[in-house]
Amino acid sequence: MTSAATCINSARRFCKIGKKSVCLMTLCLFVFLFKNSFFKLQSEYHQFNKPIHERRLQAFKIDQYVTVPKNISNVRIRPKNEVKPVKELNGVNDIQCYASNECQRLKPLPPKKLKARGCQRRLPDALIVGVKKAGTSALKSFLCFHPEVIASHFELHYFDVRYFLGIEWYTSNLPYATANQKVLEKTPKYFIYPDVPRRICDDISPNVKIIIILRDPVTRAISDYVHEDESRERKKVEGEREDRLTPQLSPEMEALKNIHKKIDRQNIEMAGLNIYSKLGDTFESSVVDANGDVIRTNAIVDSSIYVTHILRWMEYFPRNQILILDGDAFIKDPVPALQQVESFLGVKSYFSRDNFYFDEEKRFYCVSKPEKSCMPKVKGRPHPNINPKVLKKLREFYKPYDRWLVEVTGQNFTWMAYDKEF
Ligand code: A3P
Repeated sequence: MTSAATCINSARRFCKIGKKSVCLMTLCLFVFLFKNSFFKLQSEYHQFNKPIHERRLQAFKIDQYVTVPKNISNVRIRPKNEVKPVKELNGVNDIQCYASNECQRLKPLPPKKLKARGCQRRLPDALIVGVKKAGTSALKSFLCFHPEVIASHFELHYFDVRYFLGIEWYTSNLPYATANQKVLEKTPKYFIYPDVPRRICDDISPNVKIIIILRDPVTRAISDYVHEDESRERKKVEGEREDRLTPQLSPEMEALKNIHKKIDRQNIEMAGLNIYSKLGDTFESSVVDANGDVIRTNAIVDSSIYVTHILRWMEYFPRNQILILDGDAFIKDPVPALQQVESFLGVKSYFSRDNFYFDEEKRFYCVSKPEKSCMPKVKGRPHPNINPKVLKKLREFYKPYDRWLVEVTGQNFTWMAYDKEF
């Protein structure tokens, strides 16, 4: 306040003594200094006055719990892996904002170049929404090498568990893109959260494209168990990991987060969805109970009942806006799936056999061109041997859902041929 008053007084004094140009300059400086606060307040106002927030938070008498947060921008964290801008531009395509499109290490061009190329962070054109453990990471990483595609390195989890942070936070954590590029975000958990399709439709656009990759439901469930079991073991040793994207929330934001969590849990229950994995000591005890019945309330089982989730997505997006890929076919050969994505997104044809090689050690395809890149070790973990009776039980459990999936999607999937073996 004192500095603002001093500033006004000086402006007056200059005006009095007739130095009009200095007077004008001081006023300009004044506007420049305070314009940021004005725009920030405005954006916060829009952020927290969206009808959807109002409607849902009112039910919980938000005023009793929290005040409207003033410091939303405090939670804006740039991905750690987004390294300093590069100086050299060797081999960088004219339409790109990064020196390498490898999602793991996005190196932004110098600020002047970013500006000249019209690089901006903007909402996604397409989302890979699932399914967890069906090959979502490999799909996204490979797509990142396409010059007309750019994807966020992290799973932002905005539309499921970080919705309370607001769309500004989401946009500011998406990568830079030129007007000619398609922006992708991938969070596989979106697939099973009840509110996510509606939130994406309302907040991004009803025209956004949805990509889903599916895999043999039983193998996916096993892979999910292996993943969750490893996380459980890691937590025992290391404790909970710090949230890399939102490490320091203000008390107000923390309160808002808890309110959203409560609302989300209610909606999940009301929708009859099972999104929590209850891990037993073994895969078998996690998916089949003492009576030998499949525990469909476990997320490990429920996430593989693809058709029930896809029907929810189809309530918000027309079928031709949802691309469903076969994850088993993708493991055997990624090229056809990537070419399908290219035409779905409307980008130029880029991927061919020349971009990949089969890595004998990993037993998976890796990228050979434009630079060598394989998926990290956590992708392609060994699976345990499963009791054949449990496997048979699960296959029978998924069979009717798979038939329904074919009816609903109008597509066949390679794993369905495995039925013959059981
Ligand atoms: P497993 O680890 O069970 O083998 P997600 O990225 O959605 O978590 O999926 C992980 C799965 O992607 C892995 O499951 C693996 O089978 C599959 N995958 C598909 N293509 C791959 C590739 N080229 N490299 C590594 N894993 C791949």
